[in-house]
Amino acid sequence: MSDQVKMTAMNYAPDRPKAENPLKIQDLSLRDGHQSLFATRGRTEDMLPVAEQMDEVGYWAIETWGGATFDTMHRYLQEDPWERLRVLKKYIKKTPFSMLLRAQNLVGYRNYADDLATAFVERAAENGMDVFRTFDALNDYRNFETVVKGIKKAGKHFQGCICYTMTEPRLGGDVYNLDYYIQKAKALDDMGADSICIKDMAGLIAPYDAYNLVKALKAQTKTPIHLHSHYTSGMASMSMLKAVEAGVDIIDTCLSPYALRTSHPAIEPIVMALLGTNRDTGFDIRQLAAINEILEREVMPKYKHLLDTSKMSVIDINVLLHQTPGGMLSNLVNQLREMDALDRIDEVFKELPRVRKDLGQVPLVTPTSQIVGIQTVNNVLFDTPDERYKMITAQVKDLCFGLYGKTATPIDPDVQKKALKGYPRGENPITARPAEILEPELDKAKKEIGDLAKDLDDVITYALFPTTGKKFLEWKYGKIKDAPGDKPVSLDDVKNMDALIAKAKAGKVMELPDKEIPEKSENVRTFNVFVDGEYFSVDVDPTGDYQPVAIAPAAPRAAAPAAKPAAAPAAKPAAAPAAAVEGGTPLTAPMPGMLIKYLVEVGATVKAGDPVVVLEAMKMENNLAAPCDGTVKALTCGAGDSVAKDAVLAVIG
Ligand code: CO
Repeated sequence: MSDQVKMTAMNYAPDRPKAENPLKIQDLSLRDGHQSLFATRGRTEDMLPVAEQMDEVGYWAIETWGGATFDTMHRYLQEDPWERLRVLKKYIKKTPFSMLLRAQNLVGYRNYADDLATAFVERAAENGMDVFRTFDALNDYRNFETVVKGIKKAGKHFQGCICYTMTEPRLGGDVYNLDYYIQKAKALDDMGADSICIKDMAGLIAPYDAYNLVKALKAQTKTPIHLHSHYTSGMASMSMLKAVEAGVDIIDTCLSPYALRTSHPAIEPIVMALLGTNRDTGFDIRQLAAINEILEREVMPKYKHLLDTSKMSVIDINVLLHQTPGGMLSNLVNQLREMDALDRIDEVFKELPRVRKDLGQVPLVTPTSQIVGIQTVNNVLFDTPDERYKMITAQVKDLCFGLYGKTATPIDPDVQKKALKGYPRGENPITARPAEILEPELDKAKKEIGDLAKDLDDVITYALFPTTGKKFLEWKYGKIKDAPGDKPVSLDDVKNMDALIAKAKAGKVMELPDKEIPEKSENVRTFNVFVDGEYFSVDVDPTGDYQPVAIAPAAPRAAAPAAKPAAAPAAKPAAAPAAAVEGGTPLTAPMPGMLIKYLVEVGATVKAGDPVVVLEAMKMENNLAAPCDGTVKALTCGAGDSVAKDAVLAVIG
């Protein structure tokens, strides 16, 4: 037993003597837990069955908001993100709420102007947020300045994060060594941090590195130290225990149904490991078991189909091999799969460290992990032997311009020069605090959205997510009937699925029903069902009045004006083959994505290489260029349309 953790008493009862220095626990089940395991699809209604009991556990805080929740709730779950806070607050009255705040990126993927950032923090605090866990993907704390002012003004807890990343297999090297983290902790202290979080979003931190790092930070500062890690690589529980031995104040865990895999260590084994020591959490393990029972019975069945069960192993040793976040890996795999290029994954792994180095050894965390990841995929798929960085995403250009902040090492000057050629803000990068150059945007958003926004919360939703946020508000206020996103899976759906599986196991699925088989509608969703090593592909077609969002546009629409805001509802998924377009050269989507806007109008004259359309793929914007000189004959889609790979987006003739 280490010098920090001592056995004091052996007592199982919840009223056992309080430990000398109890380890504090933050629960992540309701945010990072389902974000990690189920693509952030957790619905508020599925948090309520355990909310009151979770409030009784004695957590330091419960993470309820932030990260990707704001995005997925309005985009896929038909939920107003602000409403979740107010609803949960009715059930969780004692335990503080915490949120993950991406500093000047708030809960989105770009830097927002100061006026919007200030309003967002104020409204989050007003709606019930207590602890603002704040991070910047580049660890550039100039991006904290505006939000920290707001957090302090609201009298809330400012937790400053140091994103944990590395370029070597273990802590050390030229860039991310012990001294780097100590300097960052000092900077956070200077900003008035109420606590400091080592944010290991990828599960990279190895147990002895966690020990050394926590020891060093505890020696440096009196501010409480909090450790956040993911279980992805399999090290997190060990790292937590070593951090406890080094004197860490707070750690993050999940209830076991939300734990492990790409999520977090489970709380229950940690409660048991520390039972009767001077770091005893004081938690009642039987109470945790009771919560888990409800979750397993009433909640988890609805999400099981979203769990990635393609592999036997619950850990991903690729993280140990490539020092790459698990979420980023699955994004890369999905992107490659959509492009029919999964066989090029090894090339992606090889290219990734090169791109990261070119772009200033940025930490790999949202959004930089996506920025580096998508650019890597673009390089592998589109570069030629004599030209690298053939298709540079808008976000890489922004990074090269300095719009995200200062990178850990300088960006490769050749890549930077190429990225900034013709960049609208200028070809010379900036060195100031990135938000300095941003014009206020809240009033502009207010004007644009007009009466559709009933309050400031609505305006912020729109300002953060102009395309999907507007669609959500239109649906929320009954302007459109079709709900955006996914239909919830009910326990009845699960029961039907289980019945089908039982039938399949008994070899009865081949019977044809007497009734005429209805035609599959476009709402059909395919589930992969794995039973005892056997695999079934099951198509599920909801028969209610549910209308999903369209997958791709139907026929070319003539003379669509540039940047037409709302798309007409589209019909069948369509990727008009290039050959079918008459009288011109088609500009096709090189990848599946969402059309953001056209940069030209029908009738405009363009030269080969001129940007014509902005396509968002994996949340990164790509300018697609005219394939030849000519006149724009048709713009075939509308803003907000989802398009398949090879879909025709414009015709130049
Ligand atoms: Co996390």
